[in-house]
Amino acid sequence: MKLKNRKMLLGVSGGIACYKSLEIVRGIREAGGSVSVVMTRSAMEFVKPLVFQTLSENPVATSLFSLEEESKIGHIKLSENADAMLVAPATANIIAKMAHGIADDYLTTAYLACSAPVFVAPAMNHHMWDHPALQDNLALLVKRNLHIIHPGSGYLACGSYGTGRMAEPGEIVTVLEDYFDRITTGEQAEKPLNNIRVLVTAGPTRERIDAVRFLSNDSSGKMGYALAEKCRQLGADVILISGPTALSPPVDIETIQVKSALEMYSAVMANSEQAQVIIKAAAVSDFRVETPNPQKTKKSERMTLELVKNPDILKTLGDRKTSNQFLVGFAAESQNVLYYAEQKLKEKNLDLIVANNILQKDAGFDVDTNRVLLIDGDGSIDLPLLSKEVVAGRILDHIMATDKFRSIMATKLKNAPSA
Ligand code: CTP
Repeated sequence: MKLKNRKMLLGVSGGIACYKSLEIVRGIREAGGSVSVVMTRSAMEFVKPLVFQTLSENPVATSLFSLEEESKIGHIKLSENADAMLVAPATANIIAKMAHGIADDYLTTAYLACSAPVFVAPAMNHHMWDHPALQDNLALLVKRNLHIIHPGSGYLACGSYGTGRMAEPGEIVTVLEDYFDRITTGEQAEKPLNNIRVLVTAGPTRERIDAVRFLSNDSSGKMGYALAEKCRQLGADVILISGPTALSPPVDIETIQVKSALEMYSAVMANSEQAQVIIKAAAVSDFRVETPNPQKTKKSERMTLELVKNPDILKTLGDRKTSNQFLVGFAAESQNVLYYAEQKLKEKNLDLIVANNILQKDAGFDVDTNRVLLIDGDGSIDLPLLSKEVVAGRILDHIMATDKFRSIMATKLKNAPSA
């Protein structure tokens, strides 16, 4: 009953697919929703309003100028009461009117008065569907956040073959169900990382050699970005500190872009105190050129670079860690993975280290998959080859199952201001 108590306003415009809209009414009602139907004059040429009225058990609105209808239904009231409006079938004509704000009948007027989400299931001949005028009008509706339920391909009522056949009623009802499912989940869910501030670092750093050259590594930033996104989905307040990557900044996540290890160090230190979970997925350059040449260095037979050590950001965080912080490091190893990772876990005072062998082709830097070991005080877990998104989920599941994280969460909740 995914549409339980949801009120749908179904606009039916004049196409042969009108008969399929009867099935949509049935589907919505079976899913627990109620339906009020508005029909255009041409829709009534295909199906009589009485059929929709019988199936929906609600009066059907057809004319703006019928005093009787207006007193019983009221087009503004219909729109105001709706949790969503669906126009199915939506002809090229109704799509054009909706795109341009023409309100010359009940359906188009109800649409303009509707502030609920609107779904549109087009149905028409394939030449009409392909016409730039129709596509431009659809693009306008998409720009205004309407949900287009795309027509399928096949034999059309006009006898030709192509795209334009209205999506099947079951499919349309599923789109509505999924939409309200997401809303309900979003409304109800207490998310596991609510009230938790997470700092994630991602990507490589760039250490300048001169005006045009730098030292860096192959990190794509994908693992760190996947972790930041996962934390956001789990309800955390996330700050992402990213080295230079080709990835687009994630939506809804505060992102600080840095280039060098020193810049990353400053940004992390300025934001780490407020964070309860810190995940250092960045591949920080261990060395930098102390004084990069501000000019382009001219070519010579040999060039020697003298490098100095960068501060170890993770170690500094480990040294300053409070009992209310959970610190996660990464270990990029090319040999003796478990041994070196365990050493880093201890030396940097971490709660968890995620280790990978960077010599494996399908894991580590610059690929979409990863194969990692999760190592903490309790031992190690060998994860299989997984997408970086799934690995991010597994890392967070692991963190959230630890006693330390539970105790941080408990302290957070105890200190949270009561509502
Ligand atoms: N790290 C850091 N600052 C550095 C170097 C590394 O914060 N200057 C962090 C990385 O973000 C990662 C972890 O330390 O979470 C381990 O990085 P890695 O490159 O595997 O190891 P290093 O500590 O640099 O040691 P080595 O290069 O000798 O393996």
